Amino acid sequence: MNGVRVLDWDSAFFGLRIATLAAEVRSETDLQAALQSCRAERVDCLYVLSESHELNKRAWLARHGALEVDVRTTLSTSAPVSPAIASQQLSQVRAAVPEDLPALATIARTAHSDSRFWNDPHFARTHCAELYATWIRKAAQGQADAVFVATSGAQAVGYISCHARGAGPDAHAEIGLVAVAEAARGQGLGGALVRAALLWAQARGLTRTSVVTQGRNAAALRLYAAHSFVVQRQQVWQHLWLSHEPQQS
Ligand SMILES: CC(C)(COP(=O)(O)OP(=O)(O)OC[C@H]1O[C@@H](n2cnc3c(N)ncnc32)[C@H](O)[C@@H]1OP(=O)(O)O)[C@@H](O)C(=O)NCCC(=O)NCCS
Repeated sequence: MNGVRVLDWDSAFFGLRIATLAAEVRSETDLQAALQSCRAERVDCLYVLSESHELNKRAWLARHGALEVDVRTTLSTSAPVSPAIASQQLSQVRAAVPEDLPALATIARTAHSDSRFWNDPHFARTHCAELYATWIRKAAQGQADAVFVATSGAQAVGYISCHARGAGPDAHAEIGLVAVAEAARGQGLGGALVRAALLWAQARGLTRTSVVTQGRNAAALRLYAAHSFVVQRQQVWQHLWLSHEPQQS
């Protein structure tokens, strides 16, 4: 339907009809046709990801009511982890075990408040919380190639998920979700988790590691910059609600 694809998982999770727009749809005529398809298919919310320089497309969508909800920021590093910093606080990091899941889900329910879902008032807050709890649970249950936790005593107080992506010259590592419980922040645990991910990648011969975060997430951007990550790409997420009724939380 005119560059619009319904997202089954998101639709089932939020109890709404959610679709995404193909990146190639950018002319006014194509956007108009896509919106007509969305209305015909009773789409509630259309996710649109644009390059930051696609000003005309973003402005057109904004005029039709789209909310700008995130600047999707991709960073990467190919810098080797120096032995001097590699071991800092690594004693507080270990591989996640099934017993950690409840603690990880609890952290995830509040940690990702800079995300595009939390930043869109049309999504129920309870759904936003459960989205990230589900995400880290699935990652630790095998969807990620590795999940490490930061600990305080025996208790998991932070996590990082890691993926091996691509093949051949494009083979690289990707960091998925990262968070540290609010009470444990500012003690170096976020840094220790990032170093654990970089060492995991290095041990697999993956010399490049990428991560996606939110343009407004100053703490995350500082954390990655401190580990030699450089911004590679900035894209803008817009959510266009065709059913404008805010949900009850
Ligand atoms: C981003 C995040 C993971 C950082 O975790 P953290 O444990 O606070 O990270 P660190 O402690 O390693 O570093 C944070 C700051 O503490 C400082 N710090 C590090 N070790 C320290 C220590 N021993 N004593 C005091 N401060 C220290 C760091 O220099 C850094 O300072 P800066 O922000 O001025 O650069 C955390 O803020 C978080 O969970 N945010 C919500 C989830 C999120 O946004 N995730 C990323 C996007 S998916």
